[in-house]
Amino acid sequence: MCGIIGCCGVEGAAGALIKGLERLEYRGYDSAGIATISNGKFEIEKKKGRISALKNALKSHRDYAGKIGIGHTRWATHGAPNDINAHPHQSGKFALVHNGIIENYAQLKEQYLKLTNFKSETDTEVIVQLLNRLYSTSCLDAIAKTVKLLEGSFALAILCEDEPDKLYCVRQGSPLLGGVGNGIFAASDITAISDMAEIFYRMDDGEIAEITESNVNFYNFELERVEKERCEFAFEDMRTDKGNCEHFMLKEIYEEPEAIRRTVDAYLMESTIELKLEIDKPEQIYIVACGSAYHAGLVGKKILSELLKIPVTVETASEFRYSNPLLNSKTPVIIISQSGETADSLAALREAKKLGSKTISVVNVANSSIAVESDFVLYTKAGPEIAVATTKAYSAQLAALYLLAIYLAEKFKTAEQAQLDKLKKELKELNKKVSLTLDCEEQIKRLAEELKDIDHAYFIGRGLGYCAAAEGSLKLKEISYIHSEAYAAGEMKHGTISLIEKGTTVIAMNTQAELASKLQSNIDEVRARGAKVFAVTSGIDITADETIITPALHPLLQTSTQIVPIQLLSYYIAKERGCDIDKPRNLAKSVTVE
Ligand code: G6P
Repeated sequence: MCGIIGCCGVEGAAGALIKGLERLEYRGYDSAGIATISNGKFEIEKKKGRISALKNALKSHRDYAGKIGIGHTRWATHGAPNDINAHPHQSGKFALVHNGIIENYAQLKEQYLKLTNFKSETDTEVIVQLLNRLYSTSCLDAIAKTVKLLEGSFALAILCEDEPDKLYCVRQGSPLLGGVGNGIFAASDITAISDMAEIFYRMDDGEIAEITESNVNFYNFELERVEKERCEFAFEDMRTDKGNCEHFMLKEIYEEPEAIRRTVDAYLMESTIELKLEIDKPEQIYIVACGSAYHAGLVGKKILSELLKIPVTVETASEFRYSNPLLNSKTPVIIISQSGETADSLAALREAKKLGSKTISVVNVANSSIAVESDFVLYTKAGPEIAVATTKAYSAQLAALYLLAIYLAEKFKTAEQAQLDKLKKELKELNKKVSLTLDCEEQIKRLAEELKDIDHAYFIGRGLGYCAAAEGSLKLKEISYIHSEAYAAGEMKHGTISLIEKGTTVIAMNTQAELASKLQSNIDEVRARGAKVFAVTSGIDITADETIITPALHPLLQTSTQIVPIQLLSYYIAKERGCDIDKPRNLAKSVTVE
């Protein structure tokens, strides 16, 4: 999704902006642009398509000598992806880039900008036109007046030709942080500036930063000064190259055992799970998340309800936040998010806090909004994940949820200690089992060759197998663009089985021995109607057209191995089809708008 970078007092600002934008590419975008100020005047270039197109345009004219600038990768919401709608947007003395959505842009146009000629179709242009309209002598003043009129979410980086040595940034509902290094930087994502800055400041909602070459002042929207503490990020985790792999996704699949090991080792010491989580015995638990994190939540529900013997409800954050959930201090809410910035998950967290729930987040990115705002954070240790389709972060989320469930069950003595000890022992070995699963790669490559031209796939499973099916199906569709659906195997005959015909691909996920015979019946039903069934199973006998065997482990942990062959299968099918694997069309890594 959209990315912002800004810099001030940086020699060759255009180069630094491009470098930062390239590091934001993984978030997903469809156009990019930069603005610098040289000799008191803007130099703006923006292009539809990849950053390489922007670089080519920059080469062709002007020297971009300025030491100050702003840059943006846009993921279109209002107005098609094209050069005109790309950011930065300019009006009079102001140029700006924006992440988020201005919900009242139409009203603002009507109320304040009736006579203005708009160049683009974006909601963003309203902001820059308002700045121009409300400006008299002070930029800070114009910014404060403007932001108070805006409804929605926004992170802004703003330049003004009258103050050519200053960069202004604003945060309200969309992430933004500042960094000090050789010059001063601002970015929507630490990845953009992690190797250009050493000291970091996280902006909070309702704040404006006034940045010069040597200083940053923070203000609230009333223009009162705000004092800020620097915040720490773990940089040993920040490597973002592909290593020897053709794609980040494959590299990240290979990194899954390490992501699991690091997450488990961070909290499971010898045989004790160490979490400084203060919590009363829950009566019910809610899990809230989006996308793959929601699928991790489905697994979390199974293990939490099994070990704690209480109801656990999983909801997508976009539904939960508007569902008037019945929460209180006895109903903790677990928010799962790789990025820690997903707009709906963040809003759900705030809603849960407002209603008196204890909020526990499972987050991969340190100091992200969800991590900072939740009452307790359990960090996954997957390291930076660059491919849009998550793999290692999902696996680390599962590991974190296993740890949390076992920890709570021990704390409240809701399960047999022997069972919990066994789970902890297996958890210590989980990385090795996942590593062994990767041995199926050659078989998967062959299957990918066979399946590369299918138009539809159906994933089925029961219990935890269904949870793996849901995530497997999402993986396949997001990167290969094959239509795919996941069903609880027993539900197939209530409708979807009518779509099964000769040659239809069905992928069956088998996790639990006690459900295997039931799943086998469902496999037989679709095979009888011509489906070709591929089964992923952990040593439990299943008859299908082809089986992929994964190492056996405790049934409650089985999703962790089951998902790996499907991640690989999705990857190799997408590769066979020539898809843009790390940056699938229309998708964004971090979804910071509703
Ligand atoms: C996007 C990503 C998914 C991710 C989801 C939730 O859709 O493409 O991979 O699962 O957002 O993101 P989060 O950062 O909250 O886990």
